[in-house]
Amino acid sequence: MSSKENFIWGVATAAHQVEGAWLEDGKGLNIWDAYSHTPGKITNEDTSAVACDHYHRYEEDVDLISDLGVGGYRFSISWARILPDGKGAVNQKGIDFYNRLIDGLLAKGVTPFVTLYHWDLPLALQMEDDGWLSYRTAEAFARYAEVCFEAFGDRVKHWMTFNENWCTAVLGNGTGLFAPGRVSDDEPYIVAHNLLLAHGLAVKAYRDGHYEGQIGIANNCDFREPLTDSDEDRAAAQESLEFFYGWLTDPVVFGEYPAIMRERLGDRLPEFTPEQKQLLKGSADFLGLNHYTTHYASRTDQVENAVSSEDGNGGISDDQQVVLSSDSDWPVTSMGWFVVPWGFRKMLNWIHERYNGLPIYVTENGTALANNDVETAIDDTERAEFIQSYTNAMKEAIEEDGVDVRGYFCWTLMDNFEWTRGYDMRFGLIFCDFETLERTPKASYYAYREIIQSS
Ligand code: GAL
Repeated sequence: MSSKENFIWGVATAAHQVEGAWLEDGKGLNIWDAYSHTPGKITNEDTSAVACDHYHRYEEDVDLISDLGVGGYRFSISWARILPDGKGAVNQKGIDFYNRLIDGLLAKGVTPFVTLYHWDLPLALQMEDDGWLSYRTAEAFARYAEVCFEAFGDRVKHWMTFNENWCTAVLGNGTGLFAPGRVSDDEPYIVAHNLLLAHGLAVKAYRDGHYEGQIGIANNCDFREPLTDSDEDRAAAQESLEFFYGWLTDPVVFGEYPAIMRERLGDRLPEFTPEQKQLLKGSADFLGLNHYTTHYASRTDQVENAVSSEDGNGGISDDQQVVLSSDSDWPVTSMGWFVVPWGFRKMLNWIHERYNGLPIYVTENGTALANNDVETAIDDTERAEFIQSYTNAMKEAIEEDGVDVRGYFCWTLMDNFEWTRGYDMRFGLIFCDFETLERTPKASYYAYREIIQSS
């Protein structure tokens, strides 16, 4: 592994998945509060109202983070806890909560890595301004970001504007699987455009404020391996990666969308003005990567083990002209995601090459095991093996390929509200009993600690 000063081991969560306390201390409603209370949207009609009750139990959680031996904790701030209606008055009790959390982490020597937006848009902005379909939401985000920089920027030195804009755009406004649940072929491109501009405005505010620290973005990407060595399949894999990670990352590095997207989409893809290009270009000090799986990519649909476009490309497959498939030898997780550590190594290399060696943080990687029985769920050797094999692949990317990876954040600290899958899918290193809220570290918690200690 790269030298210890240069590399941080961490663990990640997101506000809406762990905090609960949905109606407390002045917090406003957000789109996932509304969505999770809409009949038929979430497995078992679970809601995120209580989740892990981290809002009240954060001290116990900080102890568990510290005992895990990680150097960093990635969490997100709930926008509606800070600005209940998204853009009006500041809720001091919300600021107080994150101050307690940040100070608690620092007291234990754990570095906070803060995401400003992990999908929980204040509901008022969705209702009044059409959410991310409107540039007004980008402006509101910039103000919210400034409030956070002012309140926490003296102690938080690592910021991410957004988590997985691909999901917000494609699942939120394409397939409608995620809040706000809209179905459209064109809206994902408009939503992504406003998210990118929001990123640019927030980074400008951060840099203009002369804070001492780094700011980046956490995008997700599954790897695409050409099914065969043909030129067509290699092009399919490359273009599919550009439509996935490149779409949301090229603009913040180069100030423009990938050329292949413009070619395929024409004026369905919004344009940046020259000023906006300037705003965006070079607006990430580092790139986050959330990575969970790999697929084969090809141009022909004569494939075995085809992966449905819903599962692979979230409905924008037609625009990409790519067919995805898998290998029958690949193990599959409870989410239906394939375990392919070498794909992770190749993914890291792809980012390193495309973005000229910009530092990378693996901001999420982990696996789900659906098992609600604490006695057997804590015996999660499969998760321990997953983490071992993926961190080995990362190690090869760093040591053998020279990729500049600065950190690895395991998803996730404890079982939590897994979006549309409710409490059914458990990704945690710690078992959370959603009746009693008791936390019990799993075997993978100790295995990950071991990996960290021996690195
Ligand atoms: C990511 C997301 C996390 C978590 C994880 C597992 O897409 O950022 O919030 O849910 O996937 O599905």
